[in-house]
Amino acid sequence: MDNRPIGVFDSGLGGLTAVRQLQRLLPGEEIVYFGDTGRVPYGSRSRETVIRYARQDIAFLQSYDIKAIVVACGTVSSVALPTLIPETETPMIGVVEPACQKAARLTRNGRIGVIGTAGTIASRSYEYTLQNLRPGLRVVAKACPLFVPLVENGRFQPGDRVAELVVEEYLEQMRQDGVDTLILGCTHYPLLREIIAAFLGPGVQLISPGEEAAGQTLELLRRDKLLSDRQKPGRARYFVSDAPESFAAFAGMFMGAPVAGDVALVDIGQYGNEERGR
Ligand code: DGL
Repeated sequence: MDNRPIGVFDSGLGGLTAVRQLQRLLPGEEIVYFGDTGRVPYGSRSRETVIRYARQDIAFLQSYDIKAIVVACGTVSSVALPTLIPETETPMIGVVEPACQKAARLTRNGRIGVIGTAGTIASRSYEYTLQNLRPGLRVVAKACPLFVPLVENGRFQPGDRVAELVVEEYLEQMRQDGVDTLILGCTHYPLLREIIAAFLGPGVQLISPGEEAAGQTLELLRRDKLLSDRQKPGRARYFVSDAPESFAAFAGMFMGAPVAGDVALVDIGQYGNEERGR
């Protein structure tokens, strides 16, 4: 039993899709969330920069004596996790492995689509992980850099002609390739789920990596006897590196309901990286 909080971070607010699922699966757990709203997006940055930012995000969360870290960002999970895991004592759960496990289990025709930021797709993290899990799977990957700004601007509702056009443009080839499972490999993308599902049709199963990471967090905490025994709902605290005043409006979009909990501004530049020189 362990009543310390779970830390969750993302480049912005997309990681709240993981928080939503964590609160559903593990209602007694306390959560400390950090969204790097001052430096989003990570998806177009170099690997070195993503690693440097992620080290700071982790150092900030560790100042809250957390028991586990959910890396609720497809880009950090793809390009930085192999570097970060060996240097971090706190157990870390990324989004790539759990999403791939689910996809490999669900696919019937062995054709899996993966969409993500430019950094995620260039890293080929999902392809390598899927091939490792089930050699012979055919993976079709596509970077969708316009999806994050669409979501951040609230343009994801069915009927939004701009969002529908962008979805069509990015996913037409995937539809022709006949994938039957699509990994929404960036934690912002589940908000576009309805438009994507309507375009690809009912034969394609969509996987949200944040949700899968929450499921794997439950398994890890259970296995390592780190679950909380709190009987009442755990508190959630939210931190961002810019514009805390707009958090409530945007966070509600990702959580599917108004967000309860405090939000505070963090000077993220103060954390981490000291020993490696900034
Ligand atoms: N949440 C980020 C991810 O999952 C997308 C936004 C960004 O590019 O930082 O990759």
